[in-house]
Amino acid sequence: MRPEEADAAVAVRALLYAPLASRALCSVAELGIPNALSDGPLSAAELARDTGAHESALHQVLTALTAFEVFRVLPDGRFALARLGTALTAGAPASALPSALMAQALSARAWQGIPDTVRTGTPAFDKEFGADFFTVLDQRPDLRDLFDATQSRDVELESTAILRAHDFSSAGTLVDVGGGDGALLGHILQAHPGLRGVLLDRPAAAAAARARFAAAGLGERAEARSGDFFTAVPGGGDVYLLREILHDWDDEQCVAVLAACRRAMSAHARLVIVELAADDHPGTDADARMTALMTLYMLSVLPGRERTPREFEALLGAAGLRLASVSRLTGQKALLVAAPEPADPSARTSRERSTDHV
Ligand SMILES: C[S@@+](CC[C@H](N)C(=O)[O-])C[C@H]1O[C@@H](n2cnc3c(N)ncnc32)[C@H](O)[C@@H]1O
Repeated sequence: MRPEEADAAVAVRALLYAPLASRALCSVAELGIPNALSDGPLSAAELARDTGAHESALHQVLTALTAFEVFRVLPDGRFALARLGTALTAGAPASALPSALMAQALSARAWQGIPDTVRTGTPAFDKEFGADFFTVLDQRPDLRDLFDATQSRDVELESTAILRAHDFSSAGTLVDVGGGDGALLGHILQAHPGLRGVLLDRPAAAAAARARFAAAGLGERAEARSGDFFTAVPGGGDVYLLREILHDWDDEQCVAVLAACRRAMSAHARLVIVELAADDHPGTDADARMTALMTLYMLSVLPGRERTPREFEALLGAAGLRLASVSRLTGQKALLVAAPEPADPSARTSRERSTDHV
C-alpha cells in the first residue's frame, strides 16, 4: 500500500466514526457538564455524582472529548473546559447548547435515517416522528422553545454582519417573515430606533416574539402576528426579511413563499434574504464543509436544501422578483437583496440598473 493510500484509508475511517464525537457531545450537553465546569474544574467522580452518570463511562467520554478541544485534563486528573466546551455553556456568546439539546431530542434521530432519505427523497424526520418538523414543534411547546433558542443563539453569530451588510435605517417598516421568536427583528429594531417591525410566524413563535418585544420595551414599535407564509404575508412593509426560511423548503414551496412576499410588496419595497449561499463548485475547506453538513441536516429533517446564488436567482425570477445584490456575511452565509420585477423592464430606474452587480 502506498503512503497516500494508507492516509486515505485512515481518513475515511475518521469520517465514518465522526458521528460518535457528536453523540458524545450531545451526552455531555444533556448531562449539563459544560455548565457544571463553568465554575471551575471537577473530577469525573464529582461530575458523575452530580449528574447521576456512570463514573468510568463518563471518564472515557470526557477523555475522548479532550481530543476535540471540548475538555482538557489538568495534571491532578480533574477536567476543565477547553475552547469548544466553553462555547457549549449556556452563557457563552452564540452558545451551541440549545443546538446540542435539539440534536439529542430530535434531529439526530432524523440524521440516522439519511440512508432511507437517499432512497425515498422523503425527510427521515417525518418517518421517525410521524409528522413533519414544524408540526411536531406545534405539538410540543418545550421543543418549540428549544428550537427558538437554537435560532436566536445562531442569530448572535451573524446579526452584526447583517447590520453591516444592509442599511435598514431608511426602511420605515420591516416585515420579518417566519421571524421565529423575534431575536433578529428585536436586534435590528434596537439598532434603528426609527424603524417599526412586523413579525409573522406560527402561533407559538409569534407569542414568544410578542413576549420578547414587550420585555425589551419594543412593544410600541414591534408587532407579532401568527399566520401562514405560504398563503399571505403582511402588507405595508418597506423591507421584507427572510432569514433561514427558504432552505427549509423545496423549490415549489419556496416560490409560494416568495410569491406571497411579492404580492405584499409595493414597487419600492425590497426583499432581504439571509441564507447559506453555496459555491457553484463546492470546495473542501471548513466553510464548504459547514455548508455540506447543513445540506445533509436539511435533507434529513425538512424538504429543503442549501442553494447557490444562481439557484436563488431562479426562484426569485419565478416569483416575479429580481436579484439585485449578494453580500457575503460570515463563512458561506450571504445577504441577498431582491426587488420586484416590473412588468415593463423599461420601468426600472437608472439607480436600480446601476446596482446590478450579480
Ligand atoms: C429556520 S426558522 C428561522 C427563524 C428566524 N427567521 C430566524 O432566522 O431565526 C424557520 C421559521 O419559519 C417558521 N414557519 C414554518 N412554517 C411556517 C408557515 N407556514 N408560516 C409562517 N411561519 C412558518 C417556523 O416556525 C420558524 O420560526
